[in-house]
Amino acid sequence: MRVLVSGGAGYIGSHTVLALVAAGHDVVVVDDFSNAKPTVVGRLEALTGRHIPVHAFDLTDIDKTEHLFATDTIDAVIHFAGYKAVGESVQKPLDYYQNNLGSTFSLVRAMQKHDVDKLVFSSSATVYGTDQAGATEDRPTFATNPYGWTKVMQEQILRDIAVADPEMRIALLRYFNPVGAHPSGTIGEDPSDVPNNLMPYIAQVAVGRREKLQVFGDDYDTPDGTGVRDYIHVEDLAAGHVAALEKLAVTDEPISTWNLGSGRGTSVLELLHAFEKAVGRELPYEVVGRRAGDVATSYADPSKANAELGWSTQKTVEEMCADTWRWQSQNPDGYPD
Ligand code: UD1
Repeated sequence: MRVLVSGGAGYIGSHTVLALVAAGHDVVVVDDFSNAKPTVVGRLEALTGRHIPVHAFDLTDIDKTEHLFATDTIDAVIHFAGYKAVGESVQKPLDYYQNNLGSTFSLVRAMQKHDVDKLVFSSSATVYGTDQAGATEDRPTFATNPYGWTKVMQEQILRDIAVADPEMRIALLRYFNPVGAHPSGTIGEDPSDVPNNLMPYIAQVAVGRREKLQVFGDDYDTPDGTGVRDYIHVEDLAAGHVAALEKLAVTDEPISTWNLGSGRGTSVLELLHAFEKAVGRELPYEVVGRRAGDVATSYADPSKANAELGWSTQKTVEEMCADTWRWQSQNPDGYPD
């Protein structure tokens, strides 16, 4: 298939580009580079030995999106592009609704006009709201912040579209906590600001960019009192997208929902200690108060994806830490400008 990857220069998008090419697909990237560096593209080309066509524009631009579909032959779309910072979404809700929903509107309109029927959508465990432990796909969805609502709303919009247009084949992929990096150490997560998420924060402490980790609470009802999450290696996550895409080519279901997670929980301190092993030294941390909006425990029930996609996570927390550290130590300041 010739696959349009929106947000293909971003963290999960770039790893999925590699997985798609490895599986024999052609890739076209669209990215506005609002949260990604153009230098990632040369690295993807070096790893794949291929030219990767890249269109640099904002998908909320309906005319540009339409023009892309009119001038290229696209078989399927994987839609990653979107704003994703929870705290920022509380400050700038309108930006989040406009960007995240608007890009989906223009993409799906162009898909329908040009008879592109396969769409893989980047959703999140955030749609389980405060009920994230052992989540199965049939749980009710809700959110606790505007970012989360954009995912809940986009899922609902796509469900409505699938009812109206039963030719569509849509996958809603609910990711748990993506971490890790490509084993080459040349592709990884590169937060443009202070990292919001745990793994990139630990990695920046290890490389000397941050003084110490703040552990947000050690009084949760969990084995060591710190928050428990289902970390998934970004390469396993990328493989999940390829599996979902290939399933869309054969299924009769207009829309399907799959959790992408390992089903195993790891606490903040367990992840920190695993990272210390990868680095070979202790890392400084202090316990501070809980972060507003955090849940104690989040982990997937991935059995639906295991059974229907023939997919499961392969990589351990140790590999997630080793690969993240290789990326961070080789690229202490992230991608060059
Ligand atoms: C967060 C978002 C979630 C989003 C996901 C994207 C919040 C409340 N949730 O998930 O909606 O889909 O990122 O990847 O922002 N922690 C620390 N110190 C830190 C950072 C994190 O102790 O500096 C702890 C957190 O309290 C949590 C765990 O580490 O227990 C994981 O946090 P994080 O990586 O931010 O992921 P989520 O909160 O699961």
